[in-house]
Amino acid sequence: MRPRPKRLQRLPQQYFVTLLGRVAAAAAEDGPPLVDLGRGNPEVGPPPHVAEALAESARRPGVHGYSPIRGLHATKEAFASRYHDVYGVELDPEREVALIPGTKTGIVELALCLADDGDTILLPDPYYPDYPSGPALAGARLETFELHAELGWAPDFDTVPRAAALYLNYPSNPCAVCAPAGVFADTVAWSARTGGAIVHDAAYIDLVYDGRAPQSFLATPGAKDAGVEMWSMSKTYGMAGWRIGFVAGNAEIVERINLLNDHSRVGIFEPMQRAAIAALTGPQDSVVERVAAYERRRDTLAAALGAPLVCEGTFFVWLQLPDGLTAEQLLVEHRVAVAPGEGFGPSGAGWARLSLAVSDDTIALGAERLAHAFASGVGSTDPRKAHV
Ligand SMILES: Cc1ncc(COP(=O)(O)O)c(C=O)c1O
Repeated sequence: MRPRPKRLQRLPQQYFVTLLGRVAAAAAEDGPPLVDLGRGNPEVGPPPHVAEALAESARRPGVHGYSPIRGLHATKEAFASRYHDVYGVELDPEREVALIPGTKTGIVELALCLADDGDTILLPDPYYPDYPSGPALAGARLETFELHAELGWAPDFDTVPRAAALYLNYPSNPCAVCAPAGVFADTVAWSARTGGAIVHDAAYIDLVYDGRAPQSFLATPGAKDAGVEMWSMSKTYGMAGWRIGFVAGNAEIVERINLLNDHSRVGIFEPMQRAAIAALTGPQDSVVERVAAYERRRDTLAAALGAPLVCEGTFFVWLQLPDGLTAEQLLVEHRVAVAPGEGFGPSGAGWARLSLAVSDDTIALGAERLAHAFASGVGSTDPRKAHV
């Protein structure tokens, strides 16, 4: 066989595949059971009425053929209603909403839709490790722009160069902050100035704490001229395995995603869409309970480490490790798996991402081991360094 096409050769190492392999290998070694805080995989699934909607629909004879190629109108309408009711954003279900099989797919497809060979795509640093894959497949040049801790993990747009597209993500994985005031408006202004398109990744939009309200980029004046928002069923409803999400906003970009869909994916299985509608339009108690659980675990971790931990949103904590302590040492010597910061971009070195999407017992045990690791005499043991 000939060598792999260049577009595949350009793909970076898949961070999460590598991490899962490393954690599995460590778990198989002798020692106490590993506490895995490395993965961002929702620990609780959707509420029962969602699975029931799937089953009920799947029992119908008419749903097993190809479903409408660009999705059921009812699904896009349910999504648009949510944007109106929860985020205060008006969306035209047919022109401004596209269905995708999860936002991970959207990350790649939007790069294909927005960049030609050699164009630049900008990623925030730190970034979600799956972002570089899209630009690589699109043949785009990848550049990063720094998120500044002292600005609440916002960019300084005066220093952000021109590009075909810019990805942004609040609540931020891994920084665990909500969008600092003014950032979305600055993002729209950057787009108007440069002509670059915005991809805002809102995968964690509803997982926000301490009474904060979920905030959509699309609520910013001019946002629909600037770009799109990706929205996922995975985190809000614990449906990561279901693979269903949306791209919403700029009608031309939505049309490009639909065009790609027409040629490569075809519609999403109707019972999945019926379940998504049930989740979007049914009782929302499960979201409230989910938020309360993550907030509680964040506080357990903070109490054990003796320092406030910044977690305004997502289900992660982004932690600067004490000098001399590495993620690998935490794994091998303390039996706690975390996601090493290096995979989140150049500025991630020395940091780690911890997941709260585990049971209360797992968090309690992980907190105990981390507190012990931080206090065990490696370099600086000031727990306040553990705060973002
Ligand atoms: C920031 C961010 N974006 C996108 C995704 C992908 O989510 P989905 O399940 O919708 O593909 C994740 C998943 O962890 C994520 O953390």
